[in-house]
Amino acid sequence: MVTSEKTETGPKITEIYSEEKIAARIKELGKTISQDYKDLESPVVIGVMKGAFCFLADLVRNIKTNDPLQMEFVRLSSYGSATESSGTVQTPYLELPNISNRHILVIEDIVDSGRTAKFFLEYLEGQFHPKSLKIACFLDKPSRRVVEVKPDYIGFTINDLFVVGYGLDYDEKYRELPFLGELDLGG
Ligand code: IMP
Ligand code: MG
Repeated sequence: MVTSEKTETGPKITEIYSEEKIAARIKELGKTISQDYKDLESPVVIGVMKGAFCFLADLVRNIKTNDPLQMEFVRLSSYGSATESSGTVQTPYLELPNISNRHILVIEDIVDSGRTAKFFLEYLEGQFHPKSLKIACFLDKPSRRVVEVKPDYIGFTINDLFVVGYGLDYDEKYRELPFLGELDLGG
């Protein structure tokens, strides 16, 4: 068990997946995605900010395709500052170039209720009629699903815990932790 040095005075964060374990899993995922995408024409990867930034950066460096990847970013959020989803998806940044009829891979931090992923997949479908549309998420929390979404590539499937680190936040904190930890707010 590791408790973050940065949070000695704050809430307890208990490590679930170490930096090494995450790196090993992402290598495997990268291999699988490479096999599926290696011969596809100009694939586009869309990272969903902010939570996906660590996963995205590590994952794309493990994807090898014949055609180079085009990288785009959007920012979506369905969480306020609490640990519960607000229920509506906000789109603070949704600027995309014309990526019609392309192979699109969405990269998300976590699929929880599934609202964010469902909203975005439907948006992309309607806007760009992709040749293929898939989603890779670092974490899947299937027990919390409110709408149906089945991620195509999953780093780890977790129970109903609130986790932070490796891009994921609580109230905009702890994204920089190199490991994934369960946040215990006490009480
Ligand atoms: P969904 O729309 O309910 O699937 O939630 C998506 C967003 O909620 C994710 O992209 C995260 O930003 C946030 N989220 C869900 N579960 C967690 C968690 O355990 N820790 C941190 N953020 C989370
Ligand atoms: Mg968040």
